[in-house]
Amino acid sequence: MRKQTIHDIDVREKRVLVRTDYNVPLDDHGAIADDARIRATLPTIHYLEEKGARIVLCSHLDRPGGEVVEKLRLEPVARRLSDLIDQPVPALPDCIGPEVEKAVSEMKEGALVLLENLRFHPGEKANEPAFAEQLSRLAEIFVNDAFGVCHRAHASVVGVPHYLPAVAGILLQKEVDVFSNVLEDPERPFAAVSGGAKVSDKLGILDNIITKVDLLLIGGGMAATFLKSRGYDVGASRVEEAQMDSVKKLEETAKFLSINLVLPRDVVVAETLEADARTRTVPVSEIPEGWVIADIGPAAIEDFTREISRCRTVIWNGPMGVFENPKFAAGTRQIATALASLDGTAVIGGGSTAEAVAAFGLTDRMTHVSTGGGAALTLLAGKSLPGVEALLDAGA
Ligand code: 3PG
Repeated sequence: MRKQTIHDIDVREKRVLVRTDYNVPLDDHGAIADDARIRATLPTIHYLEEKGARIVLCSHLDRPGGEVVEKLRLEPVARRLSDLIDQPVPALPDCIGPEVEKAVSEMKEGALVLLENLRFHPGEKANEPAFAEQLSRLAEIFVNDAFGVCHRAHASVVGVPHYLPAVAGILLQKEVDVFSNVLEDPERPFAAVSGGAKVSDKLGILDNIITKVDLLLIGGGMAATFLKSRGYDVGASRVEEAQMDSVKKLEETAKFLSINLVLPRDVVVAETLEADARTRTVPVSEIPEGWVIADIGPAAIEDFTREISRCRTVIWNGPMGVFENPKFAAGTRQIATALASLDGTAVIGGGSTAEAVAAFGLTDRMTHVSTGGGAALTLLAGKSLPGVEALLDAGA
């Protein structure tokens, strides 16, 4: 990593403000539905504990819009973290102010606290210097371990580093290193698998990645726009007409660079995307009028998994179909299984792809499952992350 990390700075017995991304999914009862983002910060927490640092954790949760929203308090996160590390983690009632400053000043070596949801204050999203300065008063060192929010120029991400020496935590370092290794020096053959509902969400990635991969596999709802641009009738599937020129250009670039851009040969189509809708598997040349593509078909699964098994590096972003419905989950499940068995490096972008891999119980079998959705997309699109840029340069 081009930036200083927690290993480059003396944290011994210091007060350390750690920005985490504890923006965890909550179920209908407000309970934590998936604690992967909490677990992912444990290496940094353990490292700081060993050094006797006073650990002041902070995070956002969801988008409360700059005001207190009771159901978005971080207390359940503090409880879960406390269970995981078997240590008390008091949840403070706010993230700035005299009461918080007093509590932090009384912390003992190796103790932890979790500040209240940063986004209860409008200054967080607005990156107000006064808010960043108040946060920075709580510590002597700032550690950013919140990969998932590094694409946001918010106060706790890019503002605090103006006031404190700022370095990367162990999770952030790992995320950045994995993506840069894969994008800059992949073992070949190198494939990207891209899916999800909309081409417009993925064009940034595709334009960047087409220049790096040997093979590009396209599935999910967005395949409809590619199929249409190749002249297929895609029924009632969503086609992004505004992206048609970009898709054509991408196809031309692939041809020019001799990159194999593979689309599904067959698809599972449905009359609607409702759970009880009628479904059929058809070649892409026979999509019935009024039906929508809901998954890639068995022949496409065979093509995609065969191509994947030949690769030494695969990066996957975006499900192959509407996997939340078991009728349309086969494509996503089989691609996940192929990546889990890959003899090489399998990297999963965050967001819904990570959710799918977790739902199939395959997270531990991947080389890396990113904790960031938008942040992973930003890196895959070849752009830098403001939260990383704000940290101290390595060797400085
Ligand atoms: C995420 O879930 O991708 C991060 O926590 C960022 O959340 P945001 O999109 O609300 O900024």
